[in-house]
Order: sequence, then structure tokens, then C-alpha cells
Amino acid sequence: MAKVTYLGHAAFYIEGKGIKALIDPFLSGNPSSAWKPSDVKELDYIFITHGHDDHLGDTLQIAKDTNATVIANAEISAYLTSKGLKCHSMHVGGRYAFPFGRVKLTPAWHGSGITEGDQTLCGGTPCGFLIEVEGKKLYHAGDTGLTMEMKLLEQEQVDLAMLPIGGNYVMDIDDAVRAVEFIKPKKVVPMHYDTFPVIKADPHEFQSKVGSLAEVIILEIGQSYEI
Ligand code: NI
Ligand code: MN
Repeated sequence: MAKVTYLGHAAFYIEGKGIKALIDPFLSGNPSSAWKPSDVKELDYIFITHGHDDHLGDTLQIAKDTNATVIANAEISAYLTSKGLKCHSMHVGGRYAFPFGRVKLTPAWHGSGITEGDQTLCGGTPCGFLIEVEGKKLYHAGDTGLTMEMKLLEQEQVDLAMLPIGGNYVMDIDDAVRAVEFIKPKKVVPMHYDTFPVIKADPHEFQSKVGSLAEVIILEIGQSYEI
């Protein structure tokens, strides 16, 4: 069984046959994070949706400590390779069969600048990920507004979708409900809310508005779900 653990904000730990992975490991910068970077002892992959600090997070330290391979777009991969990390570069629309399962990068409407000192470096195009683990298809939307491209995801038959609901930078609850209508996943985990005052949102309001469209699983920070 694939296990998905919510670490707060947009950070998740995914574990299954042949894969131990983090998505957007924003841990030390998030006061309510479930884990510290040093808690991660063994890791195969780190998925990065875009270059913003609250997603790139502790990637440098964790990848150096664990020798994990970073999966990200070409620009973020080039940046992290220059820092000495091992990367597998992909881009939006591309799919690749890894030993654990296939991964596809999906479009996200957002930015992707990488902050380094007082400079912002080009982080390419932001993305989401479709990740196959033990025959289940997981979708992490990344940071995004509602997009028509999400309608294409219906054909992917997503088992579990991780969708932002916090508004301001990303979809708010009502747009996230429309995203569920487009994607038609079996299950949905809301994310990217409550970390900062501007992205405060009630996951129970999201759950009641989704209604019978999908099963909404509200994970406490640090809580795991087996799919
Ligand atoms: Ni962002
Ligand atoms: Mn963000």
C-alpha cells in the first residue's frame, strides 16, 4: 500500500514499493511542520513543484544528507545541479517511467522564481506531479490557480489529489471545488492553507462543498493515510 503523510503546507512524504520521497519539503521554515530536515534519514527522491521558498524549502540539506535524487523542471534541476545535487530533469507534459512507477509533470498557473540572497533566479515553469506508486495514481497540484488543463486530468483516473485551498496565491475553496469537478479524483487531500494568515481556510468548508464529488480526507499535520 502507498502511504501519504502530510507534513504541513504543501509538503508530503510518500512511501511505497521502491520509493521513499518528499514533495516540496518546506520543513525548517514552517513553524507548524511535523518534521525537521534531520528527521529524514532515508530518501530516494524529492519532487519540487516550483522555485518558491515555501516549496524548495530544505531540499539542499535533505538531498545532501540522504543522496536523494531531485525530480524537477529543467531550470530548477540546473540550479540544484550547480549546488552539487543529483537531479532528474523533466518538463511540463513529459512523462517518464521510474523504477517505482511513472511520473508526469502537469501544468500549474503560478510563478517559480528562486530566491538567492537579494536576487530572484529563473525557476522555469511551475508544475504539478502525477506520481504512480503501487498502481495508485497520486496528483500533487503544486501552487496553482484553477486551470482548464485540469479537465485533462479526468482521463488520468487520479486516485488521490492533493489540492491547494488557501487562496491569495493559489485556488481558494470554491475554485478547488471546481478543480475537483474537473479532475474527478476518488479522494482529495486539501493543502496549502493556514500556514500564514493570508492563506487561512477551513478544510471542513471545502469538504462540505465537495460533498459527494469525491472523498475529502483532511489530514492533521504529521498524519498518514494509506491508499
Ligand atoms: Ni508558490
Ligand atoms: Mn506556496
